[in-house]
Amino acid sequence: MPDSATFPEIPLFDLQLQAEDLDAVAETLRSGWLTMGPRTAAFEEAFAAQLGARHAVAVSSCTAALHLSYLAAGVGPGDEVIVPSYTFVATASAAIYCGATPVFAEIVSRERPQLDPEDVARRITPRTKAVCAVHFAGYPAPVDRLRELCESRGLALLEDAAHAPSATLDGRKLGTWGLAGAFSFFSNKVLSVGEGGLLCTDDDQVAAAARSLRSHAMTSGTWSRHNRVTDTYDVVGLGFNYRTGELRSALLLSRLQRLESEIAARRALTRRYRELLRDLDGVIVPFTDAEVEQSSGYVMPIMLEQRGRQSAVGLFMRERGVQTSIFYPSVHRFTAYRQRYPDITLPVTELASETELTLPLYPPLTHADQDRVVEVLAAALQA
Ligand SMILES: Cc1ncc(COP(=O)(O)O)c(C=O)c1O
Repeated sequence: MPDSATFPEIPLFDLQLQAEDLDAVAETLRSGWLTMGPRTAAFEEAFAAQLGARHAVAVSSCTAALHLSYLAAGVGPGDEVIVPSYTFVATASAAIYCGATPVFAEIVSRERPQLDPEDVARRITPRTKAVCAVHFAGYPAPVDRLRELCESRGLALLEDAAHAPSATLDGRKLGTWGLAGAFSFFSNKVLSVGEGGLLCTDDDQVAAAARSLRSHAMTSGTWSRHNRVTDTYDVVGLGFNYRTGELRSALLLSRLQRLESEIAARRALTRRYRELLRDLDGVIVPFTDAEVEQSSGYVMPIMLEQRGRQSAVGLFMRERGVQTSIFYPSVHRFTAYRQRYPDITLPVTELASETELTLPLYPPLTHADQDRVVEVLAAALQA
């Protein structure tokens, strides 16, 4: 863990790497090949296999994966993409990168802070091209119902699975329900390596487009030229530099071996939190015990029943060494979004954003620390 003088006693997340992770990175450094190469290909293969998807395309971030998946769904200028506002801003920004408009739909409730299929249906217009569901906190959005809806209306279903590696709905991995799924390997995520992302899909054309566009739509990469597969390249479209690199891929491959055991630890801690919070007045705990078993256990969100207490409770806890966070401020209320799209009101989303607090959760969190988090929260609620 970083310098204790600058970090709270119980941080929101804590990444602990093992000796084998460091060895994998050191070996990659010694290999002298740092941009995309064999380790990236091996990671893509391993990630696709654990997902049960035909293709996995590693990229520089989940934001890049979202952008590529929107483009692959044919999203362009004048189109609309229906997204939740209760998400990280990237879900919406990726639509704007394509020249399209994000259309914000409501979440169901604070107990179920996921895209509401009925509200999505109401917001479909002739311009709608796609719907992007977010698996908030690693719990399944209703992608079964959204898929039916999208199929019946000729729309692409996309999944922002940034929080949800190896999480499931009806036994099927999240990220594999729609045309494409986007994952994040950002530093506080379940499978974190600092920065990085991945697009998965069963569609050969979407995969080919993503592979091409992640590296300037060039017909060959540096690795194949290095191996003399080809000496030159053409550029066949307007692509991007959304490449990843071998150091990240080596670390991801190494960490992927522990993904299931770390998720099991996250679920056990989540079950324990739910038990500890059960009788605490003034707190709503989203989702159900059964859903914990399907989730990646990315974060532990709670909602304070009353509005207007969020920052005071967060501050009280921080002063006592417990870090909390807000997942998420509503995207439509950010300055840049209000300027572009004034007059949007989403009462359920706004209530969730103004009452949510995220508690510390990471595999090595001790029971003593967890007890302390709940004790400080209870004191904060009474203060
Ligand atoms: C729901 C959601 N979508 C997208 C992203 C963007 O991920 P990245 O930082 O890898 O671009 C995040 C990251 O915080 C996220 O939480």
